[in-house]
Amino acid sequence: MSVQPEAQQPEPARKPVPEPEKVSRRRLLRYLMWGSTGVFALATAGVGLGMFWPRKIQGFGGKVVAGPVSKFAQPLSVTVVREGKFYVSHVTTRYAPVEGLIALYWRCVHLGCTVPWVPAEDRFHCPCHGSIYDHAGKNIAGPAPRPLDWMPLTIEKGIVVVDTGKINQRHAVEANQITPFKG
Ligand code: FES
Repeated sequence: MSVQPEAQQPEPARKPVPEPEKVSRRRLLRYLMWGSTGVFALATAGVGLGMFWPRKIQGFGGKVVAGPVSKFAQPLSVTVVREGKFYVSHVTTRYAPVEGLIALYWRCVHLGCTVPWVPAEDRFHCPCHGSIYDHAGKNIAGPAPRPLDWMPLTIEKGIVVVDTGKINQRHAVEANQITPFKG
């Protein structure tokens, strides 16, 4: 008995596999050129925007938030703000031409020691050589040659902000150094 070979099934037609597109050298260079142009444009736009974007509130050397204005409401209160290296002093007409808030840089104008507020003495008293300053930072004893330096203070939507990037020397306590208190 002879064995009949199995009838061969026709193979299913295969779909032609598309050859991967070859990227020509010229096209590759074009991609690279546009890519680097795009990166450059984005970087330039970033720098440009950075110049016009409002600067963030920052630490010493920039604007520092001292706190809500209610924190400084008490006349003759002196509050230290360590982040900004200053005091917010609520002065009255006993110490200044007008009542309001003044920001005092805590650095002694004699030789640069940090001057603490001493509540028991009701004044600033430098531990280094004994300079003494009153509520408005006026030098009243010791070797300090002038009042403590001051910084611009603003009240923005109920928040006290001090610009520690603008430290001002002075030889007298004057009204323009004091921000009227708006509670
Ligand atoms: S550094 Fe303050 S009195 Fe000399």
